[in-house]
Order: sequence, then structure tokens, then C-alpha cells
Amino acid sequence: MQAEPLLSLRGVSKDFGGGVLGLCDIDLDIAKGEFVSLLGPSGCGKTTTLRVIAGFEAPTTGRVLLEGAEIGHLPPNRRPVNTVFQDYAVFPHMNTAENVGFGLSVRRLPQAEIGRRVAAALDLVGLADKAARPVSALSGGQRQRVALARAIICEPKMLLLDEPLSALDASLREQMQMELKNLQARLGTTFVMVTHDQTEALSISDRIAVMNAGRIEQMASPAELYDSPATRFVAGFIGAMNLLPARATGDGRVEATGLTITAPGAQGLGSGAAATLGLRPEDMQIVATGGAAFRILSTVFHGSSLRLIGETASGIGLKLDIPRIDAPDLPADGVVQLSLRPGARPLVLPD
Ligand SMILES: Nc1ncnc2c1ncn2[C@@H]1O[C@H](COP(=O)(O)OP(=O)(O)OP(=O)(O)O)[C@@H](O)[C@H]1O
Ligand SMILES: [Mg+2]
Repeated sequence: MQAEPLLSLRGVSKDFGGGVLGLCDIDLDIAKGEFVSLLGPSGCGKTTTLRVIAGFEAPTTGRVLLEGAEIGHLPPNRRPVNTVFQDYAVFPHMNTAENVGFGLSVRRLPQAEIGRRVAAALDLVGLADKAARPVSALSGGQRQRVALARAIICEPKMLLLDEPLSALDASLREQMQMELKNLQARLGTTFVMVTHDQTEALSISDRIAVMNAGRIEQMASPAELYDSPATRFVAGFIGAMNLLPARATGDGRVEATGLTITAPGAQGLGSGAAATLGLRPEDMQIVATGGAAFRILSTVFHGSSLRLIGETASGIGLKLDIPRIDAPDLPADGVVQLSLRPGARPLVLPD
């Protein structure tokens, strides 16, 4: 993080009235050139945060700062920010090139310059051959790319994207995620993207703000969120996670459902203290002897791995992933022994 962030929110809350608190005391710093995602379940305040940054929503309390200067009083068109909205509204009566050039026409730039910049923007989003096509004759994914080109052509300091890839099918979505990341790297523009898709956020963000019920629970790099979630919510939301009731043994370990595990978070806990043990499905393996008993109730095919869903001897539900290449012949009764995989990073979250 640089000394001076490009954009900061300080103590931003949004009260919609009628008991609906859209945002609750949000602090957020975004550095120049960063790709930040706002990730969280439906209704957690992602769009509201974006609208506060863009100036479409005035916070009830708190400040919006751009390079340290207050911009809370500026209307959207006076902020060096462009937004691609959740419904990516394109102008249906215009063709692709007219849609993309709209912002520059409004600014009355010379036609030759508009034409040059439209061509460059269409090239960037892979729609150069669709310039003259009416947008009504484009697919949903192509329209999203028109909306993207229309936003980047104005060369904003910051591009705000609300679920920009939601209309795309899985394979095009994955391809566009990489294109978006490459585009951002090439332009050097700061991107703030809203998504409720954790895989998408993990794949392309420099940092992710995980939101829940109007608050930011944790803001960190994808790897840090995955390896060291700060709260139970983040632990459960980022990737698959088994959250198991556990007791500290007092010597830096915890005991949970037949497994005794050394974990950094257990150091400070006294003997018998209640805690929650977080184990990723890939953190466990099947061993021949000496593990904790686990009864497999169902097996789900995930392609390169198998997910085994079952319960421990004490009836605690658990899922584990094993690479298919390692999958042993499972016994007829479905009971196997589990142990911690070497290199696993179990988490202890205090209760
Ligand atoms: N104009 C409004 N008036 C009243 N309540 C609103 C308004 N806009 C949003 N809300 C409420 O504020 C909360 C946050 O809404 P927001 O649109 O920011 O959620 P979101 O995280 O973008 O969700 P989604 O993933 O479904 O788009 C919700 O409870 C929503 O109902
Ligand atoms: Mg939204």
C-alpha cells in the first residue's frame, strides 16, 4: 500500500431508513493501480459501496476522499470515476461504436479523435469487428464488453464494475476474467469490482474486501484471506471449510472429533478452552492406520478430485477432497482413517 491511497472511505454508513442499514462504518483504502474486489453475499452492501464511491449515493455519515481530498460533495460527473453497472445498460438505439463513443461525444471531442479512441477501445475488448452492429444484435456477453469499452474510453482514474461478468457462461466468464485482469494491467487504471463469486474474486484481485451485513469483515490478498481468515464468516465464505467444535489441550494443540492437531492459533488457549477448528477439505488424507475414524456417506465427482462427505465417530459432519490420482479403493462399509495432510494449515478460531 502506498503512502497516499487513491481513494479512501472513512467511517461511511448508509441508513436507508425503515431499519435498513445498507452500510455500517466502512473504512476502505484503495491504492493507485490496484485491482480490488468487493465480495460478499447478496444484500451485504457491495453495490451501495460502489454507488457511494461513484457519487450516486450520499453516505449518511462518513467521508469519501480522493488522493486525500474530500469529494463527498461532488456529483458523479465531476468525479474521475466511471461505473459499469450491474445491468450494464447499453443504449439500444445506438450501434456498438456509438455506444462506446457516447461519453466522448458528450464532451464534444473532435470526430477524428472519437473515431480513433473508439477503435482502440473496441480492439481492447475484442469487438473491433462489431463496431457497426446494432447492440440489439449482440449477445449478453458482447453487451457487457460494450459497457466495459464505454467506461474505459473516458480514461477514468478509477473504474467501478458491478458484477461485470454476470451475464457470461462459465467458460467465457473465465476467459473474460483473465482479459479484465490483463486490461487492468495494461491500462494501469485502478479497478474496483463487485462480485459475489469467490472464485472470480480470488483469481483476479490484488486485494479483496469481504463484506457481510454492511461491514467489511476483512480486507487482504487472496492468499491471506484463504490461509488466515480473520473471522468465522470469512473462513466459511472463502473456499470450502470444515468448522469443527474443538477443545484446547493447553500445550498449543486442539482436539476435535478424534484428531489432535497443532495449530498456531491454539498457542494462547488454556487447557479445556472451547475453540473452532477450521480444516480445508484438502487438509486431510486417508491413512492406513492411526487416524480418526470417518464414515463416507457420499462421494461427489469434482473432476481432478473427489469430495468425500461423511461424519466422524462422534457424528460431526466433514468433507474432504482427495486427488483422484490418490483415491484408494474405499472399503465396503465406507469407514476409513483420516489424518492431517503434511503441509496442511489448520486454523484455530477462538469461540
Ligand atoms: N435505495 C434503497 N432503499 C432502501 N434500501 C436499499 C436501497 N438500496 C439498497 N438497499 C438495501 O441495502 C442493503 C445493501 O444493498 P446492496 O444493493 O448494496 O447489496 P449488494 O451487496 O449489492 O447485493 P447483490 O449481490 O444482491 O447485488 C440491502 O439490504 C438492500 O435491500
Ligand atoms: Mg449489488
